[in-house]
Amino acid sequence: MKVNGKQYRTIWLDEDNPHIVKIIDQRLLPHQFVVEELRTVEDFAAAIREMHVRGAGLIGAAAGFGMYMAQVQSPADDPEYLRRAAEVLIATRPTARNLAWAVNRMRQEINEESTSAARECRALTEARKIADEDAEYCRRLGAHGLSIITEISRRKQGPVNILTHCNAGWLAFVDYGSATAPIYAAQQAGIDLHVWVDETRPWLQGSRLTAWELGQQGVPHTLIADNTGGHLMQHGMVDMVIVGTDRTTRCGDVANKIGTYLKALAAHDNGVPFYVALPSSTFDWQICDGLAEIPIEERSDAEIRYVSGALDDGGITRVAIAPPHTRGANYGFDVTPARLISGLITERGICGANEKEIMALFPSTAG
Ligand code: MRU
Repeated sequence: MKVNGKQYRTIWLDEDNPHIVKIIDQRLLPHQFVVEELRTVEDFAAAIREMHVRGAGLIGAAAGFGMYMAQVQSPADDPEYLRRAAEVLIATRPTARNLAWAVNRMRQEINEESTSAARECRALTEARKIADEDAEYCRRLGAHGLSIITEISRRKQGPVNILTHCNAGWLAFVDYGSATAPIYAAQQAGIDLHVWVDETRPWLQGSRLTAWELGQQGVPHTLIADNTGGHLMQHGMVDMVIVGTDRTTRCGDVANKIGTYLKALAAHDNGVPFYVALPSSTFDWQICDGLAEIPIEERSDAEIRYVSGALDDGGITRVAIAPPHTRGANYGFDVTPARLISGLITERGICGANEKEIMALFPSTAG
């Protein structure tokens, strides 16, 4: 997607040095646009853990390149080194399914080769493939999701009002995004639309990232405090909700950014369609009951007790918003049960959030 008119992906290989991978440091957006270089598997683990890169798809792509870098670094091609690197990467963000999926895919590919040079070459090819696939699947799911927006737009006067939570935009993937892909496709098709952007406490992915990327692409949007969605839905001001997901069970339960469940409840109570957009890499085929089986990441309570932002002079600073001795509980994700979801928008088409329809769309992937 475009940043100040220039085309970017969220992760790419340095043109001159194949041992350097570049990312956009998302901690600094929207105040500063800084490209960071990652050179070691430790760099990748820190970038994922500390959220320089974040969002299910991008975490997967970063893990792919991280495993490539582990192979580059591996002393005397030591398989133990690669196994440990895999463990370190997988431990960085427990909820995101794409992370373990990408690491395991990389390990399988690397193990197919017997020489160090061939392993490195294969690792790079596979890491690139994971990133390219991520972008392509998001593009395709955008085309499928467009049909839902088109249908709503035919039925009503004025803009289609879409509410989204967190950032499931191109910044959360390699390109296009999941929740935003149908929005960008609708914009391209000339459909009149407007997006309600939840600020998404505590990390503010909505106000810092979604608002920024929609602004860069010229999509009309309005930032709202996290608790506003229910009110808007009660007053007919939301035509549909689209969110992303970090892990989706084969029965259609979905783990997404904390607060998604409350939006789904409000949507259900008000008859507002609630869609989840995802590339198939986000499915966890082994599990059915999301509430019981999806691990929920807990992060430092500093993210709750402090807020970061830009001063008028552009400098980024952090301020306390709670008494010094108050502790916080920082659950990163919650689970939205399948029964509250109108449909899953995937690269293969749209299906109901239930095992039968999911398996009909992905018959060979079921584990
Ligand atoms: O903690 P984050 O910013 O990685 O969480 C991201 C989300 O919750 C997104 O909605 C999710 O990854 C789905 S879209 C990639």
